[in-house]
Amino acid sequence: MTGLQDVKKIRLQHLAAAKRAGEKITMLTAYDRPTAAIFDAAGTDLLLVGDSMGNAVLGYANTLPVSLDDCARATRAVAAGAKRALVVSDLPFGSYEASPERCFDSAAVLMKAGAEAVKFEGGARVAPQIALLSGAGIPVMAHLGFTPQSVNTLGGNRVQGRDAASAALLRQDALAVQAAGAFALVLELVPTGLAAEITANLAIPTIGIGAGPGTDGQVLVWTDMAGMSDWAPSFAKRFGEVGAALRSAASAYGQAVRDGAYPDQDHSFPD
Ligand code: KIV
Repeated sequence: MTGLQDVKKIRLQHLAAAKRAGEKITMLTAYDRPTAAIFDAAGTDLLLVGDSMGNAVLGYANTLPVSLDDCARATRAVAAGAKRALVVSDLPFGSYEASPERCFDSAAVLMKAGAEAVKFEGGARVAPQIALLSGAGIPVMAHLGFTPQSVNTLGGNRVQGRDAASAALLRQDALAVQAAGAFALVLELVPTGLAAEITANLAIPTIGIGAGPGTDGQVLVWTDMAGMSDWAPSFAKRFGEVGAALRSAASAYGQAVRDGAYPDQDHSFPD
């Protein structure tokens, strides 16, 4: 099997092979067609239609108000822009926790919208959901550590697994989601050593966010990664200044309109 960069269309077996080969996997969130097309062309392996769209682009305080309709609409747009990347869509809060059947129905909506896999939060408690979906042909990415949909019970955005009991629970949950059939696991806000240890003990790839360099891949919310957020967490390095570039383009446009410099002859239709 060739390396990930040579793969024309990312599928589950390529991610499994990357884990075995020690090759890093890249994932970014995307919520619309243009950004999906740009990240896809840049070689991003996975595009996550994350429920982080709630805070990142929809103006909500957190991910809890995000609806299945929000995720389906964004999935349709991202799938239209993605050629090579595997499109993973988040099941939003309230759409999967109550039962495996509920979870299947919600996941089916996202798969019909163009998702190639779904992600949802939780460990052993959602193992029946993971097993049902995986058995029914819907690949599942699990999500442990800080799980934003549980922000109210976790007491805010906090690193998880710092004490022995919560580290032990995290280890157990990681094994439970793998045993249930998850093809990959997101580890969010987990101490570096623990994330590396869990990664070494799993056959499936781990994708870290605020979990240090020892995971099999990394994910960032694109607006944090590209300098489009008002605020970003300390682990989210800015790799660009897209917000500043947009502001400067909008201000140049406004100035040209006010000056009468736009539209000029080159941008008008002659009589
Ligand atoms: O919704 C999201 O963007 C996520 C990432 C933080 C992993 O779940």
